[in-house]
Amino acid sequence: MNNWNPSSWRDFPIKQQPTYQDLEKLKRVENELSSYPPLIFAGEAQKLKSKLANVVDGKAFLLQGGDCAESFNAFNANNIKDLFKVMMQMAIVLTFSGGCPVVKVGRIAGQFAKPRSSDFEEINGISLPSYRGDIINDISFNEKERIPKAKRLLKAYNQSAATLNLLRAFARGGMADLHKVHAWNLDFVKDNTLGEKYDQLANKISETMKFMEACGITSNNTNQLRETTLYTSHEALLLNYEEALTRQDSLTGKWYDCSAHMLWIGDRTRDLDGAHIEYFRGINNPIGCKVGPSMKEDELLNLIDALNPENEAGRLNLIVRMGHEKVADIFPSLLKKVESEGKKVVWSCDPMHGNIEKTPNGYKTRDFANILSEVKQFFQIHKAQGSVAGGIHLEMTGQNVTECTGSTSAAITHEGLASRYHTQCDPRLNADQSLELAFMIAETLKEARA
Ligand code: PEP
Ligand code: CO
Repeated sequence: MNNWNPSSWRDFPIKQQPTYQDLEKLKRVENELSSYPPLIFAGEAQKLKSKLANVVDGKAFLLQGGDCAESFNAFNANNIKDLFKVMMQMAIVLTFSGGCPVVKVGRIAGQFAKPRSSDFEEINGISLPSYRGDIINDISFNEKERIPKAKRLLKAYNQSAATLNLLRAFARGGMADLHKVHAWNLDFVKDNTLGEKYDQLANKISETMKFMEACGITSNNTNQLRETTLYTSHEALLLNYEEALTRQDSLTGKWYDCSAHMLWIGDRTRDLDGAHIEYFRGINNPIGCKVGPSMKEDELLNLIDALNPENEAGRLNLIVRMGHEKVADIFPSLLKKVESEGKKVVWSCDPMHGNIEKTPNGYKTRDFANILSEVKQFFQIHKAQGSVAGGIHLEMTGQNVTECTGSTSAAITHEGLASRYHTQCDPRLNADQSLELAFMIAETLKEARA
């Protein structure tokens, strides 16, 4: 790899970074992080890549989801467990109704750094530096708390390690056992239409399990019934953190960002000659790149060549986030161009980031109908092109929050947002809304892959 090393990004222009006051302290923290164990192992990232190669071929579906921004305050076992359960539910809906194996990737265990549309935030005439995620500064609107602090990188690492530890325990320790399908239904979802619809599906699975058990196939003798893998991912925005966790695999000599299995580049930092592209081209993890409405055809092809020069299937996930009003205008020609050049990519749909609106009562929200509409259009555009709609990328939580408006089971109104609006950053789908979306996608998948 020409002139690349884990710190070569430092010679390139970079966007969306904090300005640290104490650079010596930052260096000490980076050195300390470099001495810590990696959070993932290169072999796991390779395994995910091979699973994503199946997504490129339409043989599996990518489900990626989690918080917009993880927070130090909301760090507890219940939040992690509930997200795990909802992702398991969605995956089983997609696998059983949609007839397609699901690759599960959380926006978790490292999703701490946020790009912002403005460097400053103003409230009642007072202007302070914007909140940039818990790995950088604090969300409270207070001058001292908004100063970027290097020691936050260590806290983010430790939280990520503990989160990943629990996820691995859930995935391998019995929580993911298919005999537990009913137990994944969260209490507040159980009694509404979605919960009931899910229960019906879970009953069918339980029956199938009994039949299989009678044939001698049990969780004791078949790993696939007992265990799963939930991979981790985040936006690799704060490159000081990513560099410190970049390690050379002793088996292959290749470099991996060992802070997560998969990393992605945000829509605001994907400049071809910028630091983020430089960093990403040298790591061997599977990676994502957001594709927003300003993307041009040639620019996209150049990005693909820079990030995946070998055209390796499973290496690159293009995460399309146009918004429900623009996707039909902008996406078809981009898709056509990339497909006609024979580029092997995972196309996934992020129906969140192009559909943000501000309500008259001051909440940042997204309407469920607009989210559904973008997903449906995404599938239709692929159908018309004859290409594969490979996955979905969501901001979601297992908690019973009121952050996005709409949906069938608990139609949330503008006024209703106030009751449980807890997000650190963008509005997330709650467990009901996530499940409803999964049922809709399962139907579409079934048709698309029939
Ligand atoms: C995000 O995924 O949280 C995000 C900031 O997205 P985008 O880069 O697409 O705006
Ligand atoms: Co977001």
